[in-house]
Amino acid sequence: MKQKGLLYTGKAKSVYRTDAKGQLIVEFRDDITAFDGGKKDQLKNKGSYNAEASAFIFQYLEKNGVKTHFLEMLGPRRMLVRELSMIPLEVIVRNIAAGSMVRNYPFKEGTKFKPPVIVIDYKDDSRHDPMLNDDLIVALKLATPKELAAIKKTALKINALLVKLLAAQGITLVDFKIEFGRAGKTIYLGDEISMDSMRLWDMKTKESLDKDVYRFDKGDVMATYNRVVKRITKTESPKRAPSETGRKSKEVPATATALKASVKRPVKKSPVRKR
Ligand SMILES: Nc1ncnc2c1ncn2[C@@H]1O[C@H](COP(=O)(O)OP(=O)(O)OP(=O)(O)O)[C@@H](O)[C@H]1O
Ligand SMILES: [Mg+2]
Repeated sequence: MKQKGLLYTGKAKSVYRTDAKGQLIVEFRDDITAFDGGKKDQLKNKGSYNAEASAFIFQYLEKNGVKTHFLEMLGPRRMLVRELSMIPLEVIVRNIAAGSMVRNYPFKEGTKFKPPVIVIDYKDDSRHDPMLNDDLIVALKLATPKELAAIKKTALKINALLVKLLAAQGITLVDFKIEFGRAGKTIYLGDEISMDSMRLWDMKTKESLDKDVYRFDKGDVMATYNRVVKRITKTESPKRAPSETGRKSKEVPATATALKASVKRPVKKSPVRKR
């Protein structure tokens, strides 16, 4: 597997072509940005912390029946992925009111959303990612009604799995953003799921465990990211949530060892990480 030319460079990741058909390398850089790029910095190890969290979560989701772009890690910050034609939607699932929900709507921070609220934005920085609705998504030909229904269903499934994974480590999943893309006719989960894209609160202390620490200068950002990665990836089997139908869930436990043992694709050992 050889890395070829740069295909795309975003605010936090760079995407490279490879000599393998349909495979790309996503490199998680140490760049961190907030407020539409208005605040930016480089924080040592940030890329590897986000890559590690993403890789663990993608594998956990795959084991539970979610199709993701993840193939394997090629080092602490380089992820081999399936090449997707990205759908320019930011699919946000919210369990608790925070951030823009509180700024833009009359919700009190901390209000629980039951069922969770899905918000879909148009991924376009030049337009400041305006919020869409189903009719606009179809009118813009971003997805068919059938695809949109499937995307929403998958987003809720991912939410339920992540809530369980994180709750086992005393972390509340407030909200998160995901992106999807197509390979042929199949829709896969792409991009990343990390401390940059999830809003996480410690269940006991309510302290922020995500990019809000950077956005609002709440403390040592990298110490927080490092602690969260350790908590997520050393997670023990989450307690089974009683399923709505009362049937026993078929979900695979999220134990780190269980994941490593059960992942079909070989995950190469990462070189020693400098932390
Ligand atoms: N499997 C994939 N195939 C092709 N492109 C992908 C895949 N996964 C993610 N991408 C794209 O790679 C890019 C990653 O870059 P990055 O997240 O840094 O920038 P961005 O999304 O443009 O900006 P920001 O995240 O700051 O809004 C994104 O455009 C994302 O949609
Ligand atoms: Mg991005």
